[in-house]
Amino acid sequence: MNGRMIVIGCALLMISSIVSGQSCPPNIPIGNCAPKAGTATSFAGDTGSMRTRKSIFALNAAEIAELRLAFQRLRALPASDPRAWLAQANVHCWYCAGDASTAADVHGTWAFMPWHRDYLYMLEKVLGQLVNNPKFALPYWDWNTPPSTSCTTGNPLQLPPPYVPKTVGTSTNSLWDCYRKATATSTMAVGSVGKARVDNILTLNNTFDLFFGGPSTAAALWPGPHGYVHLWVGNQPALTPPRPDMGVLETAARDPLFWAHHANIDRLWDVWIAQHGTPVYPSGFLSQNWTFWNQSSTPQLIRITANDAANRATRLHYQYAAPSCTPGPSPLLLQAEEEGLISLTPSAQTITTEARQSERKFAIGASTGTHVVLHLDQITVPSDQAAILRVYVNKPAATAADDSSDSHMIDEIFIVPSRTPGTVHGLAGHQHAYNIKIPLPADVAAEVESSKGQAPVTVVPVAATQTGLLAAVPSTVDGKMKKPYLTVED
Ligand code: C2O
Repeated sequence: MNGRMIVIGCALLMISSIVSGQSCPPNIPIGNCAPKAGTATSFAGDTGSMRTRKSIFALNAAEIAELRLAFQRLRALPASDPRAWLAQANVHCWYCAGDASTAADVHGTWAFMPWHRDYLYMLEKVLGQLVNNPKFALPYWDWNTPPSTSCTTGNPLQLPPPYVPKTVGTSTNSLWDCYRKATATSTMAVGSVGKARVDNILTLNNTFDLFFGGPSTAAALWPGPHGYVHLWVGNQPALTPPRPDMGVLETAARDPLFWAHHANIDRLWDVWIAQHGTPVYPSGFLSQNWTFWNQSSTPQLIRITANDAANRATRLHYQYAAPSCTPGPSPLLLQAEEEGLISLTPSAQTITTEARQSERKFAIGASTGTHVVLHLDQITVPSDQAAILRVYVNKPAATAADDSSDSHMIDEIFIVPSRTPGTVHGLAGHQHAYNIKIPLPADVAAEVESSKGQAPVTVVPVAATQTGLLAAVPSTVDGKMKKPYLTVED
């Protein structure tokens, strides 16, 4: 084999360890859960992109990675930031009569459906801001979807798998919560939360009053499946060992599962409308309003209403995809972390690396006007040497003898020396480091997309004579570069 070759495969490695029966440190005491005070301005209506909430069982690996990154960043916000994880959970505490003199309990009345809708909206925007993705949407845990043996991503009657492991790779899973009674193998009673039960509730509660409740009567979903899931995931604090989070309203929203559970309750509002039509919402219902801190990095206190909630599509800009447990083909590419230099010489080597989740996701494909770009960073060769490098994607066995017309050869790089050997050009020994971006041709980009961003990149040094050049460029290169990575760019 002529020439040296580097084959770099990016593999997304998800090391999951299922942890059960662990002992938890004492839970954070509730204290006073009144939120930070401020002067509220009226919610102006969402101005961002339409966001689509999908079933947790329909998320692909990159979407799960992004969800985890979002919660990781939420947890990392300083405690003084009103957007932070515990501050968010305390908002729920406050609005469940954590301080009855300043906020009414939103659980036993017609506030239940719109308050939780507005609350989820605000958190979804915070999470989207933290991962810099305006299309970020919360997933929903559709416990009422019948379990199917053909579904490989989980059983709706059990904890959704992304929330179960304590660790992912070497870090703590931000979706994990120590204070759960349910374990990976616990199963909910189908009679309490399954399809027949939920369909029955939706069918019987066919008027606004029955489904949404009234100023002093509860919404139909509140006492049934909603409460069941809370008490199944967590437990009453008096029980041993205490696993209080989801089992007690004042701590429930500390568990990231809370948001997936409530997204399903919220989705059933839409399912009810599909069955019974949009109700005439009473004005007393629509004028209910609450304050939350928004997603801005200098958070603003926003007053948002039940009317905003009732006009979900136009005021809040999100929608629900139908339940599914088939993750879509991943339209996402994973960007590798910065790594050390890789030697371009002296012999063939295969490097298997773990790609980390990207900070941002991109839709790719011809229709979106984006393209896939390969980045070769910090290519350096001695400044008195020329080099010719052929770069292949998805052709790990490429050699210098290959025909350069193969579309998997995405570029030929000609590096011109900057000084004559033996002379001192600028600083002695200076080397230029080149960062090169190479857009992939459409056919290769499509392969990369279907392999979810896992693309072997092969860099083959070739001699000048193989490229029609007369100059004597050796086929050996004493160079280095960083691990290649892919991005999708507009
Ligand atoms: Cu505000 Cu499920 O509780």
